[in-house]
Amino acid sequence: MKKNIVLVGMMGSGKSVIAKALAERLQLPCYSTDELIEQKTKKSIKALVASKGWEYFRSKEEQIVAQLAKKKGVIIDTGGGVILNPDNVRLLKKHGIIFFIKVGPAVIFERIKDDKKRPLINVPNPLAEIRRIYKQRLPLYNQADVIVNASVSIESAVAAIARKVVS
Ligand code: S3P
Repeated sequence: MKKNIVLVGMMGSGKSVIAKALAERLQLPCYSTDELIEQKTKKSIKALVASKGWEYFRSKEEQIVAQLAKKKGVIIDTGGGVILNPDNVRLLKKHGIIFFIKVGPAVIFERIKDDKKRPLINVPNPLAEIRRIYKQRLPLYNQADVIVNASVSIESAVAAIARKVVS
């Protein structure tokens, strides 16, 4: 299996947990675009966005995606907005299978409502903001090769992806 396994989806959908579980199960290396941006800039995403803005963050994200996409047989855990850039989607698809980790806004809200590290939902009405972002991005996430329902359990999502890549 030389194609990469790429996870896309909203913040709080469980991508990072799923990516780590898959890496363990399939014995594959795993990379997170957000973690690599933090390492490269030596700043948390929150601090980076606060000091340099979203455009700067998105350009760093594009650079990291371009590097990671060319790897072979790795797991790539992407930030929720990676699909906003068509070049990211094209490259990730070229070298990998994209899995959309699908979780509805209400479940996302429950999972991340107390997390202060997420700049996107640092607004007066986070649930409404999650709904708005979800609606706007759904057609982009749906460009994935496989849609994985992860609302119920993380374990079943991991198993579904593992089945797909070993078959
Ligand atoms: C973002 C999601 C975050 C992070 C950044 C922007 C988004 O990643 O990349 O805050 O636009 O949805 P997670 O999906 O890992 O939370």
